[in-house]
Amino acid sequence: MTDKPRVWISRPTFADIVARLEPYFVVSAELEERKLDSGELAAKLAGQDAVIVGLKEHIGAPEIARAKRLRIVANLAVGYDNLDLAALSAAGIVASNTADVLNESVADFAWAMLLGVARQMSAAERWLRAGQWHATEFKAWLGSDVRGRTLGILGMGRIGQAIARRAIGFGMPVIYHNRSPRPAADERACHARHVDKPQLLGESDFLVLALPLTAQTRHAIGAPELALMKPTAMLINIARGGIVDEIALAAALREGRLAGAALDVFEGEPQVRPELLALDNVVLSPHIASATTGTRRAMASVAVDNVLARFGHGPHAGHPPNILNPNVL
Ligand code: DGY
Repeated sequence: MTDKPRVWISRPTFADIVARLEPYFVVSAELEERKLDSGELAAKLAGQDAVIVGLKEHIGAPEIARAKRLRIVANLAVGYDNLDLAALSAAGIVASNTADVLNESVADFAWAMLLGVARQMSAAERWLRAGQWHATEFKAWLGSDVRGRTLGILGMGRIGQAIARRAIGFGMPVIYHNRSPRPAADERACHARHVDKPQLLGESDFLVLALPLTAQTRHAIGAPELALMKPTAMLINIARGGIVDEIALAAALREGRLAGAALDVFEGEPQVRPELLALDNVVLSPHIASATTGTRRAMASVAVDNVLARFGHGPHAGHPPNILNPNVL
């Protein structure tokens, strides 16, 4: 019988990174991606001192009810809408995320989606693969220009700013809306101007969503907001599916009230609404904005750092660097 604390990792990650835990913990890790239901999750958490989990794991009061030894839940994501911070804090459990290490990869992907929807890349590829390319037509597949058009960003945290900085190369004016405007130095660095939400919706040619999902931001883009957008505008969501009312979005796209959308995230993922699947003016991807080898390794490493720190090990001993509920310490 060992007296080492136990850590459970809910999904396959990188063995060499997880190995950093082994001198201090008994480590168990799931070998397959599988969504556990609340009861299974509660049973898993019951015997653990630390857990590293992903967005599939929704952790709140019912899941931690028997987790009397649990001291940290390290989330393998920057977004933490899967964690009930109030319940974790009440139980004295630290929560951490992977802020910062994924900003640049996610910003790159937001641009891939923006360019993809502007130039109809997904639809054109489907058409080509279906063997429909019989002649090169001068007037086929006419997309939207990107250069010089207005980029709007809803949510100007670190990812939003990384997206904005890339607009300089495309000669695009950037407007944004955030709960509070960024300091002037940040605005200068990304050549961005704060506007109110109706102005953002009305003036953006490409509107990128980069805000966290909370009770206040759920369906922040619904029918009334879509009605304020230009019919030529395109919406890009790399944040969380729940920020958009997908039924209202599908209707706006179908009826030509919005020109296109690029969605990496969905309300019911991994299920995607048939209303969206039926549309050709939508680029769809399976929540992969942070999925580069380097970034996913960095995310795993940050989660490990936070677990080690919670147990007094490593360079941040005693101070998990990405703590979300510092009141617990
Ligand atoms: C995040 O980190 O929140 C991403 O959406 C998951 O890759």
